[in-house]
Amino acid sequence: MSEKDHKVSRRQFLTYTLTGVGGFMAAGMIMPMARFALDPALKAGADSDYVPVCFVEELTEEPQKFQFSFEQTDAWYESEVTREAYIYIRENTVTALSPTCTHLGCTVSFGSNDEHPERFYCPCHFGMFEKDGINVPGTPPQRPLDVYDVLVEDGKVYLGQINQRT
Ligand code: FES
Repeated sequence: MSEKDHKVSRRQFLTYTLTGVGGFMAAGMIMPMARFALDPALKAGADSDYVPVCFVEELTEEPQKFQFSFEQTDAWYESEVTREAYIYIRENTVTALSPTCTHLGCTVSFGSNDEHPERFYCPCHFGMFEKDGINVPGTPPQRPLDVYDVLVEDGKVYLGQINQRT
């Protein structure tokens, strides 16, 4: 290669310099804006806290309905969310079931059907679940009721996120 091939003209030097400085300045402006826009999404995972719901001594082997509320931050909006869970204790294990029917999302209730007092019943399409939330074959729901993460500490029951069972 000759020396002439490596020569940078004044115009090229100016173009490279301005492009570099312009890019640096643009990054300086865009990065804070991008961080501000993504911040709630980046923090979303941090809000998987457990919420106190009841005391262990209140629980029986029969699923009982408990209501609980917590603050939820959805992007930039904060709101109070109320949820329900059917909670029972068997062999020292606490289980919390979501009352949302896994067929099409209606709300199930335990013991409300006189013919099946030991089951969860969904009035929308006559769906049924056993006491432990397992779907009854031959009824519309194709999978069990979802379960909450459960934490028991100092005699209190805390619920976390809801998990799907297969
Ligand atoms: S929504 Fe519950 S059976 Fe259809």
